Amino acid sequence: MTKIGLFDSGVGGLSVLRAVARELPAYDLVYFADQKYCPYGLRPPREIRALSARITKFLIEQNCRVVVVACNTASAAALYFLRETFPDIAFIGMEPAVKPAASATRSGKIAVLATRGTLEGELFGNTRDEFAREIKVNAVYPPDWVERVERGDIDSPETFSSVRAVIQPLLDAGVDEIALGCTHYPFLAPLIEKVVDGRATILDPSDAVAKQTARVVATRGLSSSRSATQTFYTSSELASFQRVLTKLLGVSHTNVYQTLL
Ligand code: DGL
Repeated sequence: MTKIGLFDSGVGGLSVLRAVARELPAYDLVYFADQKYCPYGLRPPREIRALSARITKFLIEQNCRVVVVACNTASAAALYFLRETFPDIAFIGMEPAVKPAASATRSGKIAVLATRGTLEGELFGNTRDEFAREIKVNAVYPPDWVERVERGDIDSPETFSSVRAVIQPLLDAGVDEIALGCTHYPFLAPLIEKVVDGRATILDPSDAVAKQTARVVATRGLSSSRSATQTFYTSSELASFQRVLTKLLGVSHTNVYQTLL
């Protein structure tokens, strides 16, 4: 039975898995969290390409034929490379929603929140030049959000302060569209919304990625599975992965494993 694989540096891609599971409830999903090497955001692209290739091989061994790169940083560094290296696999990648933000803004000011790797990458630069030339783009790297989500710390007063410290200056600068360009950040969306308080729109691309995955699955003729299993792997510590997984998804899963690849 062929499956859909998803991977991220850690638990962030679970925001994409959640959307894919909603869109394709009758498919087997395999999720890989590369927590041993998290965060990816500060690693050189060459290293991210090597890590992504290793994970893809693992997902292929688990029978995945469609792979969602549920990480903006890995998509920016490795998507083209993965397509070339594994021509039989259909890859779906992520990128910050610059285009929708640029076309929806009324103030002419948008914000893109992402890791340094994504913001410094060629893909982001090209998208900004193509779609947001006339617009003020505030590209911001929130320093500790990935680590907070990795710990499952998505609701403490300290996390709220960290969110406010990033978001408030953007609102003060007149930003009215905020694109979440890292898959960890949607787990902080309730806190971001609290600060935004209706003054800006928050753009999370995971639903669009899930719809694209459904189109690819249909084109590839992937068959659905009666059991519709969800299996999770981490390259780091199992107990903490399991705890954070349960917290972020709101359900506890039994098919959770550690693999050292
Ligand atoms: N979740 C990843 C992304 O979408 C990045 C987190 C990291 O720095 O590892 O970019």
